[in-house]
Amino acid sequence: MARPSGRSRKRHWRGEVGAQDGTPAEPIRLQIDTLGRRGDGVARHGGRAVYVAQTLPGEELTVRLGEADGDGVRAEAIELIEASPQRVEPPCPHFGPCGGCSVQHVSDPLYAEWKLGIVRTALDRAGFAGTPMLPIARSAPGTRRRAAFRALRGERSVFLGFSERASHRIVDVTDCRVVVPSMMPLLTALRALLGDMLAVRQSAVAEVTATDGGIDMLLEVEAEATLPLRERAAAFASEQGLARLTVRWGDMQEDPIVAARPATVTFDGIPVPVPPGTFLQATRSGEDALRGFVLGALSSGSRPGRIVDLFAGCGSFALPLARLAPVLAVEGDEAALEALAMAARAAGLPVRTELRDLAKRPLRADELAASDVVVFDPPRLGAKAQAEQIADSPVRQVFGISCNPSTFARDAAVLGAAGFALESVLPVDQFLWSAHVELAGRFRR
Ligand SMILES: C[S@@+](CC[C@H](N)C(=O)[O-])C[C@H]1O[C@@H](n2cnc3c(N)ncnc32)[C@H](O)[C@@H]1O
Repeated sequence: MARPSGRSRKRHWRGEVGAQDGTPAEPIRLQIDTLGRRGDGVARHGGRAVYVAQTLPGEELTVRLGEADGDGVRAEAIELIEASPQRVEPPCPHFGPCGGCSVQHVSDPLYAEWKLGIVRTALDRAGFAGTPMLPIARSAPGTRRRAAFRALRGERSVFLGFSERASHRIVDVTDCRVVVPSMMPLLTALRALLGDMLAVRQSAVAEVTATDGGIDMLLEVEAEATLPLRERAAAFASEQGLARLTVRWGDMQEDPIVAARPATVTFDGIPVPVPPGTFLQATRSGEDALRGFVLGALSSGSRPGRIVDLFAGCGSFALPLARLAPVLAVEGDEAALEALAMAARAAGLPVRTELRDLAKRPLRADELAASDVVVFDPPRLGAKAQAEQIADSPVRQVFGISCNPSTFARDAAVLGAAGFALESVLPVDQFLWSAHVELAGRFRR
């Protein structure tokens, strides 16, 4: 899109939509009204919402209408006629095509206000307007400790990076301002390794985690395990100084290639030997903020007798909470739960674990009856069935943690109908420059 300065930014719109029948639509002139839920500028045209990537409220531009998107239509920006004073230079060279970040062009105050607005809108819709909200806890650039890099072997080279926006194509990433800087130098050597492992059009995913012992990598490759490839992978791990490298070849089980140093993560001073590719909160500071919200609330006032931590993962809440009271930690991932149990034993903490699919078999109201406090931190889909059991139980204090304000609000409404008040909410931004936002809420009745 041409800017008033005359400097072309058209490359930022590479891969955007075109007209449905293949003939380009006539350009139209629009003014952007709001910054939408996904970070697109939103305008109105012919009674429909028009979504334009990388634009800002107040901006005037010409666009070409493209594919339908829900009730609205997506549009390709052609020329920026009037730029917003809130527009800033995106710090990353991949901004635009890369699907990882959608709002690097937004000034910091507008960015923070937009993230808060996402949380507020979800709460308002579920009947929690006016809930006291703490200041948003923000993670700095270069602090994301988990990333999944996708790879595809092309005819001449390996593409390695993140998915393009609204596409399966891969942006070949050489620089990322979001992840911890120690991940970046690995990418060149990883491209070379995958060039040896993959045939043309074969793919791989490298799940990279920054642990206390260094980088932990789980590499899922379409290739077959052979002795030379296992040796090549081991050489890569030692040259790059990885703490651990595990490879999943095709559909096979995990193959431990190198374990040079323990891959541990420390939760509030408690070390946990995390399994390859396990779930962790995206940033350490985000995790500290979420845990601080729960621990801070429980550390003042009378001590709880027993706590249940549902969707406990490797124990980021359960382990520190066990310093206050015995904890039952329930989780569906066996390896994560085993890591949690090992850490609890080593630290001498009173944690009982239960492996359970909480979507199919939520902890029932009668099983929750002996607990004073429930913490639940489900995946994006939320935990409606579990919230219904909590609502029917005699539990009086609940902490909900979520990476999805919409499902959080839906589940909160279930608790609200059973007499719980949502006393306060902490928004947490650990997915920098993306449309994701986390939150923690305290419910009491
Ligand atoms: C958002 S993570 C939270 C983990 C942990 N509380 C933390 O802060 O690291 C959600 C957790 O729920 C687990 N999970 C997902 N679906 C589940 C299910 N149906 N039953 C039980 N656990 C599930 C995942 O394995 C993951 O550990």
